Amino acid sequence: MKIGYGIAVQGRDDVYVKIAKDALEGAVEGMVPERFLVEFLPFLRHVPPWFPFATSQRLWAKWQAAGERLKNTPFKQAEAKLSNPAKSLQRLAKMGVSPLEEEEILNNVVAVAFEAGTDTVLSTTLLVFSGLSLHPEVLAKAHAELDEVVGPHRLPDFSDKDSLVYINAIIKEAMRWHTVLPMGLPHATVADDEFRGYFIPAGTMVIPNTWACMHDLEVYEDPDVFRPERFIRNGKLDPTVQDPTAFIFGFGRRICPGRYFAEFALFINVACAIHVFNITAPLGEDDLPIAVKQGHTDSFISYPEDARCMIMPRSATAEASIRSHATTACQALNEQEQGAPDRSSTLERGVWTAYWICTMCNGTSQSCRP
Ligand code: HEM
Repeated sequence: MKIGYGIAVQGRDDVYVKIAKDALEGAVEGMVPERFLVEFLPFLRHVPPWFPFATSQRLWAKWQAAGERLKNTPFKQAEAKLSNPAKSLQRLAKMGVSPLEEEEILNNVVAVAFEAGTDTVLSTTLLVFSGLSLHPEVLAKAHAELDEVVGPHRLPDFSDKDSLVYINAIIKEAMRWHTVLPMGLPHATVADDEFRGYFIPAGTMVIPNTWACMHDLEVYEDPDVFRPERFIRNGKLDPTVQDPTAFIFGFGRRICPGRYFAEFALFINVACAIHVFNITAPLGEDDLPIAVKQGHTDSFISYPEDARCMIMPRSATAEASIRSHATTACQALNEQEQGAPDRSSTLERGVWTAYWICTMCNGTSQSCRP
């Protein structure tokens, strides 16, 4: 919401969080292939939503309305705040697009980016936390790398990306270990084709089995095991190992346009989190570790079924660093809310870190909005 619309949400009960959740339900639940009978009997799409047993029509009507709300409500608020037309609007105008079309395009772009970019990154982040809490040896290696490359007196930033080989490997492994979009997005052949002797006519729907590619025994040894080392050789990322990012972001001209954004967002969030936190198995009321179930949901965007873990500052220095960055980030956000110029460029570690750390303080920082 902040990145797309400049809206800072005020916690879990915020109206914009509800709008986003409702709209995402449609994408997560409704886009599972073969879930609805209408996919096999297309004439059923003419059945009206009020007809008995027309469950899919009723759900689609509900999700469509939620999608429209997501498209329009935050956009209207953002529009009201805009004092200068965005650069992209000026560019569209040069392309001969009418002002009404301009608004519709901009509206759709931000809404789709929001829908496509939130839970995919969230699910991958949960997977990293889950993988680390189940594998203390991986966390220890990550801590050692961060201590050596970054040291205790600052947070990692984007200039550390190439040096933090093990952190990059952890992210790749999380993406591979549990594919967030297990069946990608359906495509269609634009011309007749042939594959291994099978004739595929133009217009055939093709569903990529990304999950199978990421768990192919011939490509990845012990594919169900979380093992970032598989991507490293001689202290560097091994280019001969199949890179999950070539699969998980889809294929062809509709490949995920947010892939670079996603990779950078994951890097900065994961590197900063590991640098200052210990991530361990959750403890029950008896103070004994809880056995976390390693499953995944069977929705279109798949999530770990149980990502519970314990997150504690690594040290007193780490805790002080978390608190001080939370304060700076909250102040910067508050100032922006009150119309002060964006000083995110002066937040040395990039605005992503600031947002992330800001949410971490959970309103406990004294300078945070009430
Ligand atoms: C780990 C994170 C992400 C994963 C795994 C992911 C994966 C995908 C996949 C598989 C597709 C379908 C591509 C195809 O048709 O073959 C897609 C489409 C898309 N993604 Fe992502 N994505 C991620 C993050 C993001 C982010 C952060 C954004 C935006 C900021 C984004 C925006 C989009 C959009 C707009 C599309 C639709 C493109 C189109 O249909 O032309 N994604 N993504």
